[in-house]
Amino acid sequence: MKFFVDTAEVDEIAELNDLGMVDGVTTNPSLIMKSGRDILEVTKEIAEMVDGPVSAEVVATEADQMIAEGRKLAKIADNIAVKVPLTWDGLKACNVLTNEGNMVNVTLCFSANQALLAAKAGATFISPFIGRLDDINLDGMELIADIRQIYDNYGYETQILAASIRTVNHAYQSAMVGSDVMTAPPKVIKAMAQHVLTDKGLAAFLADWEKTGQNIL
Ligand code: E4P
Repeated sequence: MKFFVDTAEVDEIAELNDLGMVDGVTTNPSLIMKSGRDILEVTKEIAEMVDGPVSAEVVATEADQMIAEGRKLAKIADNIAVKVPLTWDGLKACNVLTNEGNMVNVTLCFSANQALLAAKAGATFISPFIGRLDDINLDGMELIADIRQIYDNYGYETQILAASIRTVNHAYQSAMVGSDVMTAPPKVIKAMAQHVLTDKGLAAFLADWEKTGQNIL
């Protein structure tokens, strides 16, 4: 499974990128706002640092304007994926931008039917939002599994990008149901390394090592 980092914080992306953990980056208007950076500048900086797709989201709501914004964002770098919302206008923009040779990430997906439409519009990525479904007591992971089955039934090449990943359990379950990609905040990716038995086992090994009086270096 590919790992995208869901942030516009350049330092956090750089730390994970140096470990070879970053296959791409996703941003959205809220993450740009939190970064306090100019969208064009910070997106360019991220796209230069990371080899894989960097999603940058349009903010227009009407197709023609979305297309114009998408074209401008796509000019930032070759690895930009233009992010459009899953509305009828967003699907129109997806189709046009895809046909022009751009990667398109269709975001704010909350149903299998929406995902089916995005695939038909030629989306490179579909972003079902797991955490936001869980927030309203629906099963985000069931949605990922449904989209996986529908895409496999018909051979759609649109990649399932599990988004709104809030916990390590979301990451695990996304991998189990066959997401092509997950995008998660850096803190969730780092938390995947943690296990209470790892900490306990390491403490016991170090305590015993202390008793040997030895040094490796
Ligand atoms: C990524 O593409 C999404 O914008 C992001 O994962 C949303 O996450 P949130 O629901 O935690 O804001």
